[in-house]
Amino acid sequence: SSSLDVDVSKIPVGGEIRVLIGSKPFFIRRRTEAEIAAANSVNIERLPDPETDEARLRPRPDGTLNPAILITSGVCTHLGCVPVGPNQGAVGDYGGWYCPCHGSHYDISGRIRKGPAPLNLPVPDYVYLTNDLVTIS
Ligand code: FES
Repeated sequence: SSSLDVDVSKIPVGGEIRVLIGSKPFFIRRRTEAEIAAANSVNIERLPDPETDEARLRPRPDGTLNPAILITSGVCTHLGCVPVGPNQGAVGDYGGWYCPCHGSHYDISGRIRKGPAPLNLPVPDYVYLTNDLVTIS
């Protein structure tokens, strides 16, 4: 399988880049302070696929987390469409992503909140090589 290095410092605050590795899409989002706060204000016991926001992040080389950067698969866990997001002007009812195929809404942590998708957008294998450079595989 292949991998890709991404400079996450190039992503505008509140914006997203989308990359393909092979034929698989991935989303890399730089969240605002308000979005980080929203991601952490959720009662996870009420979620269909309970995960904290922190559990969906990976550490930088110094062991700390950068909660601004969220990296997920770009494949809806329902039937595999690619959800839309801020670049397409549609973030869904929970501020993250919206899958137009059958109406799944993901929050700003990529967690499924409403609609037929059963699971959160998966977090891929990735590592921070530096504070800005991430290798996704
Ligand atoms: Fe996304 Fe069905 S494939 S809601």
